[in-house]
Amino acid sequence: MSYEFILTETRGRVGLVTLNRPKAMNALNHQLVRELMDALEAFDSDEDIGAVVVTGSEKAFAAGADIKEMADKTVQQMMDMDFVKAFSRILSMHKPVIAAVSGYALGGGCEVAMSCDMIVASETAKFGQPEITIGVIPGAGGTQRLTRAVGKAVAMEMILNDRTLSAQEALQFGLVNRVVPVERTVDEALKLAEEIASRAPAAVRVAKKMINQAYELSLTDALDQERREFYDLFATEDQKEGMKAFIEKRKPDWKGK
Ligand code: CAA
Repeated sequence: MSYEFILTETRGRVGLVTLNRPKAMNALNHQLVRELMDALEAFDSDEDIGAVVVTGSEKAFAAGADIKEMADKTVQQMMDMDFVKAFSRILSMHKPVIAAVSGYALGGGCEVAMSCDMIVASETAKFGQPEITIGVIPGAGGTQRLTRAVGKAVAMEMILNDRTLSAQEALQFGLVNRVVPVERTVDEALKLAEEIASRAPAAVRVAKKMINQAYELSLTDALDQERREFYDLFATEDQKEGMKAFIEKRKPDWKGK
Protein backbone atom coordinates (compact mmCIF):
# COMPACT_ATOMS: atom_id res chain seq x y z
CA MET A 1 0.00 0.00 0.00
CA SER A 2 1.31 3.51 -0.70
CA TYR A 3 1.19 6.15 2.00
CA GLU A 4 1.59 9.93 1.92
CA PHE A 5 2.74 10.67 5.47
CA ILE A 6 4.52 7.51 6.63
CA LEU A 7 7.20 5.15 5.33
CA THR A 8 7.18 1.42 6.00
CA GLU A 9 9.83 -1.24 5.66
CA THR A 10 10.70 -4.66 7.02
CA ARG A 11 13.98 -5.50 8.74
CA GLY A 12 14.19 -9.22 9.41
CA ARG A 13 11.19 -10.06 11.58
CA VAL A 14 10.60 -6.41 12.54
CA GLY A 15 8.27 -3.93 10.85
CA LEU A 16 9.44 -0.31 10.85
CA VAL A 17 7.05 2.62 10.48
CA THR A 18 8.56 6.10 10.08
CA LEU A 19 6.34 9.15 10.47
CA ASN A 20 7.22 11.33 7.52
CA ARG A 21 5.64 14.77 7.53
CA PRO A 22 8.82 16.82 7.99
CA LYS A 23 7.42 20.25 7.12
CA ALA A 24 4.94 20.00 10.00
CA MET A 25 7.18 18.31 12.61
CA ASN A 26 5.20 15.09 12.00
CA ALA A 27 2.02 16.75 13.32
CA LEU A 28 -0.63 14.05 13.48
CA ASN A 29 -3.35 14.96 11.04
CA HIS A 30 -6.29 12.67 10.46
CA GLN A 31 -4.73 11.00 7.43
CA LEU A 32 -1.35 10.38 9.10
CA VAL A 33 -3.06 8.68 12.04
CA ARG A 34 -5.14 6.52 9.69
CA GLU A 35 -2.02 5.54 7.74
CA LEU A 36 -0.10 4.78 10.94
CA MET A 37 -2.85 2.52 12.27
CA ASP A 38 -3.28 0.77 8.89
CA ALA A 39 0.46 0.05 8.72
CA LEU A 40 0.62 -1.17 12.33
CA GLU A 41 -2.39 -3.43 11.84
CA ALA A 42 -0.91 -4.84 8.61
CA PHE A 43 2.32 -5.71 10.43
CA ASP A 44 0.32 -7.10 13.35
CA SER A 45 -1.45 -9.59 11.11
CA ASP A 46 1.72 -10.55 9.17
CA GLU A 47 3.00 -13.96 10.33
CA ASP A 48 6.57 -13.08 9.35
CA ILE A 49 6.65 -10.09 11.70
CA GLY A 50 7.28 -10.48 15.43
CA ALA A 51 7.51 -6.86 16.61
CA VAL A 52 7.15 -3.33 15.26
CA VAL A 53 9.12 -0.09 15.70
CA VAL A 54 7.54 3.35 15.22
CA THR A 55 9.83 6.32 14.77
CA GLY A 56 9.87 9.90 13.48
CA SER A 57 12.76 12.15 12.48
CA GLU A 58 15.75 13.28 14.53
CA LYS A 59 13.98 16.63 15.05
CA ALA A 60 10.54 15.37 15.93
CA PHE A 61 8.92 12.07 16.76
CA ALA A 62 5.66 14.04 16.46
CA ALA A 63 4.72 17.54 17.65
CA GLY A 64 1.16 16.56 18.50
CA ALA A 65 -2.19 16.55 16.81
CA ASP A 66 -2.40 18.89 13.82
CA ILE A 67 -3.46 22.20 15.37
CA LYS A 68 -4.17 23.76 11.96
CA GLU A 69 -6.51 20.90 11.05
CA MET A 70 -8.34 21.11 14.41
CA ALA A 71 -8.46 24.86 15.01
CA ASP A 72 -11.90 25.57 13.47
CA LYS A 73 -13.62 22.29 14.24
CA THR A 74 -16.85 22.06 16.21
CA VAL A 75 -17.51 19.55 18.99
CA GLN A 76 -19.57 17.45 16.56
CA GLN A 77 -16.86 17.50 13.90
CA MET A 78 -14.21 16.45 16.44
CA MET A 79 -16.46 13.63 17.66
CA ASP A 80 -17.16 12.48 14.10
CA MET A 81 -13.47 12.53 13.21
CA ASP A 82 -12.50 10.91 16.55
CA PHE A 83 -8.99 10.19 15.31
CA VAL A 84 -7.42 10.25 18.79
CA LYS A 85 -9.38 7.13 19.75
CA ALA A 86 -7.30 5.21 17.23
CA PHE A 87 -4.17 5.37 19.42
CA SER A 88 -5.68 2.90 21.87
CA ARG A 89 -5.70 0.28 19.12
CA ILE A 90 -1.92 -0.07 19.56
CA LEU A 91 -2.56 -1.65 22.98
CA SER A 92 -4.82 -4.34 21.56
CA MET A 93 -2.33 -5.30 18.85
CA HIS A 94 -0.84 -8.74 19.45
CA LYS A 95 2.75 -7.85 18.70
CA PRO A 96 4.91 -5.53 20.77
CA VAL A 97 5.25 -2.01 19.40
CA ILE A 98 8.36 -0.02 20.35
CA ALA A 99 8.60 3.76 19.90
CA ALA A 100 12.03 5.12 18.92
CA VAL A 101 11.81 8.77 19.95
CA SER A 102 14.16 11.62 18.99
CA GLY A 103 13.38 15.32 19.33
CA TYR A 104 9.88 16.50 20.15
CA ALA A 105 7.27 14.03 21.41
CA LEU A 106 4.59 16.53 22.32
CA GLY A 107 0.84 16.28 22.88
CA GLY A 108 -0.51 13.51 20.66
CA GLY A 109 3.12 12.63 19.82
CA CYS A 110 3.83 11.86 23.46
CA GLU A 111 0.51 9.99 23.59
CA VAL A 112 1.41 7.80 20.57
CA ALA A 113 4.75 6.98 22.22
CA MET A 114 2.99 6.13 25.50
CA SER A 115 0.50 3.91 23.66
CA CYS A 116 3.45 1.83 22.49
CA ASP A 117 4.71 -1.00 24.70
CA MET A 118 8.23 0.39 25.18
CA ILE A 119 10.06 3.61 24.41
CA VAL A 120 13.69 3.91 23.32
CA ALA A 121 14.58 7.60 23.60
CA SER A 122 17.49 9.49 22.11
CA GLU A 123 19.43 11.97 24.24
CA THR A 124 17.59 14.76 22.38
CA ALA A 125 14.08 13.49 23.11
CA LYS A 126 11.66 15.93 24.77
CA PHE A 127 8.37 14.72 26.18
CA GLY A 128 5.52 17.09 26.91
CA GLN A 129 1.77 17.62 26.97
CA PRO A 130 1.50 21.31 25.99
CA GLU A 131 -2.25 21.24 25.20
CA ILE A 132 -2.92 23.67 28.06
CA THR A 133 -1.04 26.35 26.09
CA ILE A 134 -3.64 26.10 23.29
CA GLY A 135 -6.66 25.93 25.58
CA VAL A 136 -7.36 22.21 25.69
CA ILE A 137 -6.20 19.06 27.50
CA PRO A 138 -4.58 15.86 26.20
CA GLY A 139 -7.27 13.86 24.40
CA ALA A 140 -5.51 10.63 23.50
CA GLY A 141 -4.65 9.22 26.89
CA GLY A 142 -2.23 11.84 28.20
CA THR A 143 -3.98 12.51 31.50
CA GLN A 144 -4.24 8.78 32.18
CA ARG A 145 -1.19 7.06 30.68
CA LEU A 146 1.24 9.80 31.70
CA THR A 147 -0.06 9.78 35.28
CA ARG A 148 0.30 6.00 35.47
CA ALA A 149 3.82 6.21 34.01
CA VAL A 150 5.37 9.15 35.90
CA GLY A 151 3.03 9.59 38.87
CA LYS A 152 0.61 12.37 39.83
CA ALA A 153 3.13 15.04 40.87
CA VAL A 154 5.04 15.16 37.58
CA ALA A 155 1.93 14.59 35.44
CA MET A 156 0.23 17.57 37.11
CA GLU A 157 3.16 19.85 36.28
CA MET A 158 3.43 18.60 32.72
CA ILE A 159 -0.27 18.83 31.89
CA LEU A 160 -1.26 21.90 33.94
CA ASN A 161 1.91 23.90 33.42
CA ASP A 162 3.57 22.68 30.20
CA ARG A 163 6.60 21.14 31.88
CA THR A 164 8.72 19.27 29.35
CA LEU A 165 10.81 16.24 30.34
CA SER A 166 14.29 15.69 28.96
CA ALA A 167 15.22 12.15 27.95
CA GLN A 168 17.16 11.66 31.20
CA GLU A 169 14.19 12.88 33.28
CA ALA A 170 11.89 10.58 31.32
CA LEU A 171 14.21 7.69 32.15
CA GLN A 172 14.36 8.69 35.81
CA PHE A 173 10.54 8.86 36.03
CA GLY A 174 10.03 5.51 34.27
CA LEU A 175 8.47 6.88 31.10
CA VAL A 176 11.11 5.38 28.80
CA ASN A 177 13.09 2.13 28.76
CA ARG A 178 16.50 3.51 27.83
CA VAL A 179 18.30 6.58 26.52
CA VAL A 180 20.75 6.20 23.64
CA PRO A 181 22.77 8.49 21.35
CA VAL A 182 20.59 10.09 18.69
CA GLU A 183 22.28 8.32 15.77
CA ARG A 184 21.73 4.92 17.46
CA THR A 185 18.07 5.36 18.42
CA VAL A 186 16.36 3.50 15.59
CA ASP A 187 19.02 0.77 15.52
CA GLU A 188 18.70 0.19 19.28
CA ALA A 189 14.91 -0.01 18.99
CA LEU A 190 15.22 -2.40 16.04
CA LYS A 191 17.70 -4.56 17.98
CA LEU A 192 15.37 -4.73 20.97
CA ALA A 193 12.44 -5.52 18.65
CA GLU A 194 14.44 -8.23 16.84
CA GLU A 195 15.37 -9.87 20.15
CA ILE A 196 11.73 -9.94 21.25
CA ALA A 197 10.64 -11.13 17.79
CA SER A 198 12.97 -14.14 18.16
CA ARG A 199 11.16 -15.34 21.31
CA ALA A 200 8.17 -17.69 21.59
CA PRO A 201 5.40 -15.73 19.80
CA ALA A 202 2.41 -16.92 21.84
CA ALA A 203 4.18 -16.21 25.13
CA VAL A 204 5.20 -12.72 23.92
CA ARG A 205 1.62 -12.00 22.86
CA VAL A 206 0.13 -13.11 26.17
CA ALA A 207 2.84 -11.34 28.19
CA LYS A 208 2.14 -8.04 26.42
CA LYS A 209 -1.58 -8.43 26.98
CA MET A 210 -1.20 -9.25 30.67
CA ILE A 211 1.21 -6.38 31.42
CA ASN A 212 -1.24 -3.94 29.83
CA GLN A 213 -4.04 -5.55 31.86
CA ALA A 214 -2.21 -4.38 35.00
CA TYR A 215 -3.72 -0.93 34.27
CA GLU A 216 -7.22 -2.24 33.59
CA LEU A 217 -8.12 -4.97 36.10
CA SER A 218 -8.14 -5.38 39.86
CA LEU A 219 -5.10 -7.26 41.20
CA THR A 220 -7.21 -10.33 42.08
CA ASP A 221 -8.82 -10.50 38.63
CA ALA A 222 -5.51 -9.89 36.89
CA LEU A 223 -3.74 -12.60 38.90
CA ASP A 224 -6.57 -15.05 38.08
CA GLN A 225 -6.29 -14.22 34.40
CA GLU A 226 -2.49 -14.43 34.47
CA ARG A 227 -2.69 -17.92 35.99
CA ARG A 228 -5.17 -19.06 33.31
CA GLU A 229 -2.97 -17.67 30.53
CA PHE A 230 0.06 -19.41 32.06
CA TYR A 231 -1.74 -22.77 32.10
CA ASP A 232 -3.10 -22.21 28.55
CA LEU A 233 0.44 -21.86 27.22
CA PHE A 234 0.93 -25.53 28.10
CA ALA A 235 -1.25 -26.26 25.05
CA THR A 236 1.43 -24.79 22.76
CA GLU A 237 4.21 -26.69 21.04
CA ASP A 238 6.55 -23.88 22.00
CA GLN A 239 6.08 -24.56 25.72
CA LYS A 240 7.06 -28.21 25.15
CA GLU A 241 10.00 -27.15 22.95
CA GLY A 242 11.20 -24.40 25.33
CA MET A 243 11.27 -26.64 28.39
CA LYS A 244 12.74 -29.61 26.46
CA ALA A 245 15.48 -27.37 25.03
CA PHE A 246 16.35 -26.17 28.54
CA ILE A 247 16.67 -29.75 29.78
CA GLU A 248 18.69 -30.80 26.71
CA LYS A 249 20.93 -27.71 27.10
CA ARG A 250 20.27 -26.37 23.57
CA LYS A 251 18.59 -23.35 22.00
CA PRO A 252 14.84 -23.70 21.45
CA ASP A 253 13.49 -23.86 17.91
CA TRP A 254 10.20 -21.94 18.13
CA LYS A 255 7.36 -23.02 15.85
CA GLY A 256 4.99 -20.20 16.74
CA LYS A 257 2.34 -22.77 17.69
N1 CAA B 1 0.18 21.11 14.39
C1 CAA B 1 0.30 21.72 13.21
N2 CAA B 1 1.47 22.23 12.74
C2 CAA B 1 2.54 22.10 13.53
C3 CAA B 1 2.47 21.49 14.80
C4 CAA B 1 1.22 20.97 15.22
N3 CAA B 1 1.06 20.32 16.38
N4 CAA B 1 3.70 21.55 15.38
C5 CAA B 1 4.51 22.15 14.49
N5 CAA B 1 3.80 22.51 13.39
C6 CAA B 1 4.28 23.20 12.20
C7 CAA B 1 4.46 24.68 12.47
O1 CAA B 1 3.23 25.37 12.37
C8 CAA B 1 5.46 25.06 11.40
O2 CAA B 1 4.76 25.20 10.18
P1 CAA B 1 5.02 26.49 9.23
O3 CAA B 1 6.46 26.36 8.80
O4 CAA B 1 4.05 26.27 8.10
O5 CAA B 1 4.78 27.68 10.07
C9 CAA B 1 6.35 23.82 11.29
O6 CAA B 1 5.59 22.75 11.86
C10 CAA B 1 7.63 23.96 12.06
O7 CAA B 1 7.30 24.30 13.41
P2 CAA B 1 7.94 25.56 14.20
O8 CAA B 1 8.30 26.65 13.22
O9 CAA B 1 7.01 25.94 15.29
O10 CAA B 1 9.29 24.90 14.75
P3 CAA B 1 10.07 25.26 16.10
O11 CAA B 1 11.34 24.49 16.03
O12 CAA B 1 10.15 26.73 16.30
O13 CAA B 1 9.12 24.69 17.28
C11 CAA B 1 7.72 23.05 18.36
C12 CAA B 1 8.87 23.30 17.37
C13 CAA B 1 8.19 23.39 19.78
C14 CAA B 1 7.40 21.55 18.26
C15 CAA B 1 6.50 23.89 17.99
O14 CAA B 1 6.23 23.72 16.62
C16 CAA B 1 5.26 23.60 18.77
O15 CAA B 1 5.12 24.07 19.89
N6 CAA B 1 4.31 22.82 18.19
C17 CAA B 1 3.02 22.56 18.77
C18 CAA B 1 3.11 21.61 19.95
C19 CAA B 1 1.74 21.36 20.55
O16 CAA B 1 1.11 22.24 21.09
N7 CAA B 1 1.26 20.09 20.49
C20 CAA B 1 -0.01 19.69 21.03
C21 CAA B 1 -1.04 19.66 19.94
S1 CAA B 1 -2.68 19.33 20.54
C22 CAA B 1 -2.75 17.65 20.81
O17 CAA B 1 -1.82 16.92 20.53
C23 CAA B 1 -4.03 17.13 21.38
C24 CAA B 1 -4.05 15.70 21.71
O18 CAA B 1 -3.91 15.30 22.85
C25 CAA B 1 -4.33 14.68 20.71
